[in-house]
Amino acid sequence: MIFVLPGREIPGRFPGIVSGFSKLGSQAPRFSRFGEGGAGFETYLRSIRVAKKVLITGANGEIGHGLINRLAERDNTEIIALDLAPLEPSLSAKCSRVVVGDILNSALLENLSTTHNFDTIYHLAAVLSTSAERHPPHAHRVNVDGTLNLLEIAVTQTHLQGRPVKFLYPSSIAVYGFPDLASKNKAGKVREDEWCTPRTMYGINKLYCEQLGSYYANRYRQLDAESVPVRIDFRCLRFPGLISAVTRPTGGTSDYAPEMLHHAAQGEPYHCFVREDTRIPFMVMPDAIEALLALEAAPKEKLNREVYNISAFNPSAAELRDLVQKAFPRAEMRFEPDRKRQAIVDSWPGDVDCRAAERDWGWKPMFPMNRAFEEYLIPGIRKRYLNV
Ligand SMILES: NC(=O)c1ccc[n+]([C@@H]2O[C@H](COP(=O)([O-])OP(=O)(O)OC[C@H]3O[C@@H](n4cnc5c(N)ncnc54)[C@H](O)[C@@H]3O)[C@@H](O)[C@H]2O)c1
Repeated sequence: MIFVLPGREIPGRFPGIVSGFSKLGSQAPRFSRFGEGGAGFETYLRSIRVAKKVLITGANGEIGHGLINRLAERDNTEIIALDLAPLEPSLSAKCSRVVVGDILNSALLENLSTTHNFDTIYHLAAVLSTSAERHPPHAHRVNVDGTLNLLEIAVTQTHLQGRPVKFLYPSSIAVYGFPDLASKNKAGKVREDEWCTPRTMYGINKLYCEQLGSYYANRYRQLDAESVPVRIDFRCLRFPGLISAVTRPTGGTSDYAPEMLHHAAQGEPYHCFVREDTRIPFMVMPDAIEALLALEAAPKEKLNREVYNISAFNPSAAELRDLVQKAFPRAEMRFEPDRKRQAIVDSWPGDVDCRAAERDWGWKPMFPMNRAFEEYLIPGIRKRYLNV
């Protein structure tokens, strides 16, 4: 079943464009139509001359929020957003079209593809690590089959446009897998090709999709009699745990860091599900968004690989607690490790080697740890819960 928005005018960036969605069965949905003539249509015509068109799947998620807000600051970018859940009105106002639907629905994706020429696809929709571990077959369908569907759309678009469509894929440090804590502690900063032996459904899905993306970019239909004239341009970031001051995470295993902050800011006690000495890399959401945009914009000839590590800081859980407690002295935080979730975090690296990203496309975080807390997280989170 496809759930799509009821027909209504989308205010904001593309006035006059009306989303004419209706609730349909398994048929392809009717997308949008224009207001009868008038300024809206002219605005649209003007926009297609200059606009870069991007498709964002999983647009209602944490990264989607940040990405839409950031892309909307550019006046030449037209955003088509897709998510299972409707976007909040402030976000949909920044998109030219919002589709409420499932990435597993091929008819829906094909219909989108025949209606639009995308320059870039940001494929963010996924089932995250903790949720994936609770529903493995569902996670595999969304994370793997869903990604395959989007890669096929990118191929079709590349073929139709005669130029590579960019496919930006957020992977994760979950692709790594240490057999035990001793190997993790000994390894130090892990390079992209080391320890890729994931121990979770999510990590396995991500690692496979990285490789699927590389295959589509380099060897897709390699046995065809005529060589494929142009292939997709697949670019992937292995994100560490992400912390946002604006949105709250659900379903991830690095969530203890943002959860500490959000609980403290609301005066709620927090029981941390990992040990005090637990260490993995993190970054704040604005850095994650800038990294996606920087990798997207990087000249292709500078990129020596498809998959890049990035990170900004790697505190232990106790160090995180101290930073949160400094800002919220009355915060109540206790460590009550959950043995099974702990084992997952212990299989992830304590730090990652980001030299390839630094060298190829100039990766450098704007927010190292102290700056992240003092200038982004603490003020942002105080503002968010101002009235609590
Ligand atoms: N947040 C992190 O710490 C982190 C770290 C590493 C990688 N990532 C990756 O970044 C991407 C975005 O992460 P996020 O933090 O925004 O996640 P999120 O859970 O906040 O958002 C995911 C979005 O995908 C949507 N979605 C799920 N299944 C769908 C389906 N079948 N069809 C359409 N939409 C669907 C959800 O409704 C949700 O809005 C994911 O691929 C995730 O694996 C996130």
